[in-house]
Amino acid sequence: MTIDDQTFDHPQSSNGVAPIPGRRVRIRSEPLPGAIGSPAATESAAESHVHIAPESVFEAEKVGIFYGKKQALIDVSMRIRRGQVTALIGPSGCGKTTFLRSLNRMNDSVPSFRIEGKITYHGHDIYGSGVDTVEVRRRIGMVFQKPNPFPKSIYDNVAWAPKNLGMRSGLSDRVEKALRGAALWDEVKDRLKDSALGLSGGQQQRLCIARAIAIEPDVLLLDEPASALDPIATGAIEELIHALKGRFTIVIVTHNMQQAARVADRTAFFSLETRGEKPIGSLIEFDETEKIFGSPRDPRTRDYVTGRFG
Ligand SMILES: Nc1ncnc2c1ncn2[C@@H]1O[C@H](COP(=O)(O)OP(=O)(O)OP(=O)(O)O)[C@@H](O)[C@H]1O
Ligand SMILES: [Mg+2]
Repeated sequence: MTIDDQTFDHPQSSNGVAPIPGRRVRIRSEPLPGAIGSPAATESAAESHVHIAPESVFEAEKVGIFYGKKQALIDVSMRIRRGQVTALIGPSGCGKTTFLRSLNRMNDSVPSFRIEGKITYHGHDIYGSGVDTVEVRRRIGMVFQKPNPFPKSIYDNVAWAPKNLGMRSGLSDRVEKALRGAALWDEVKDRLKDSALGLSGGQQQRLCIARAIAIEPDVLLLDEPASALDPIATGAIEELIHALKGRFTIVIVTHNMQQAARVADRTAFFSLETRGEKPIGSLIEFDETEKIFGSPRDPRTRDYVTGRFG
């Protein structure tokens, strides 16, 4: 059985997880294998929406996002590839977080939020009627800018989501595996019952990553995960991203250009473009990271990555 062929309304999934009721959808249920093929040839954002290649995890097609009457993003079309790290860069307010949060429907909690166009996840319309948002967030985990551990023990932080999803068997092993995966195990193995709030900022952020990977999602969305951290903790997070790449598809928002250049296979540059009277966030260029930083096609990208922006 291929992973893609698994359906959610089976009485028991292959990893022993009780299925979550919802629409019958066929989406990936396990982390991706380590060996991922090399990226295909460079392609432009304009070409990228033309077909669904098998290795696409997300396809955004002419996506526009509104908060009430204000339009935050316009006409975003891009493909996010399986097993790669994709960085979203651009000036403040250009809609990076908005776009990231739209990939796992985190913006649904904002009453004024509205989306047009289409986002598919493994070919399924993520905003389609009947899609179970709990299941979406189970598959597509998120780590925020500011570490936000629960006021619970280190162990309980990591065990919380698996417990809630009924993954109770082998829970301690699962917690250990997630903490090892987040490169935190050696630092916390003797204090698992201590409060997570006693950890340093960098440790808390790695704990949040452990919490996210404990339920073995398919995708990790990281919104400036190292922006509140010192250079050493930032280095640890970047190493972690390298280690997790391939097992997970990662989308990371960062203001740190060197960080994007170090961690990302592909980079999307967003900017604010004036349409009519108002500036609206737009995707300017999306390509292999080397291209974006070395020989971008668009002068706006060149100005931004060389620090001449504004
Ligand atoms: N919940 C919200 N309600 C109303 N407007 C919002 C909301 N969230 C974001 N916006 C607006 O949408 C636009 C894009 O914001 P967003 O946070 O996505 O930008 P960003 O690129 O992540 O910026 P930064 O680099 O500062 O984090 C901004 O004009 C912002 O004010
Ligand atoms: Mg942001």
